Amino acid sequence: MNILQINSSARLDASHSSRLATSIVDRLRAAQPESTLTIRDLGRTPHPELDEAALQALFSPAELRTPQQAERVALDDALIAEIQAADVVVLGVPMYNFGVPSALKNWIDAIARAKVTFTYTDKGPVGLLTNKKVYVALTRGGLYRNTPADTQVPYLKTIFSFLGMTDVRFVYAEGLAMGPEAEQKALASAQSQIEDAVLA
Ligand SMILES: Cc1cc2nc3c(=O)[nH]c(=O)nc-3n(C[C@H](O)[C@H](O)[C@H](O)COP(=O)(O)O)c2cc1C
Repeated sequence: MNILQINSSARLDASHSSRLATSIVDRLRAAQPESTLTIRDLGRTPHPELDEAALQALFSPAELRTPQQAERVALDDALIAEIQAADVVVLGVPMYNFGVPSALKNWIDAIARAKVTFTYTDKGPVGLLTNKKVYVALTRGGLYRNTPADTQVPYLKTIFSFLGMTDVRFVYAEGLAMGPEAEQKALASAQSQIEDAVLA
């Protein structure tokens, strides 16, 4: 089993979402010790945003790209290769201003590529990243699970399903800014959700 872990917090060492993602990975590896692990830490190694130069590079035929354009496309190619090789994708995702971190959005913009990770047919779009399980560890200062203010879960379900990944399980650690007791409770609850998610 190939596991790909994506950390998206801007916090490098004190990130709850990255730690929870690691807990999910540890749990998966305990069950299948021969698994391989690739860690893509978007806080430590931010992926560039999709600006005009990137779009021009991506939409130029490979043989006509400048060396700089080829370099830019290669950065996205590397992320696509990582997710294509993964059987399981584990993400750590903090809530930033009611959405996903821009670092994660840049990763999504890199891996969503027409004719490579999705394609359009006469019946509509078809995702090409199939046969993968996705686990997402969500961390929040407040409490937004199952409320309209939670734009993260519907967005992530939509984009992953568009790309072919329909088995997506969420683990929530909420109320992390609501005092030490609430924080401890949230993290303990997340650990038991991890057990449930991995066994489900
Ligand atoms: C820039 C920023 C924006 C945030 N926005 C929200 C928010 O909209 N809602 C919320 O519940 N918590 C918000 N928080 C709190 C984080 O979600 C919380 O601290 C979480 O633990 C961060 O994840 P991390 O520990 O992996 O870095 C925000 C934190 C930061 C740094």
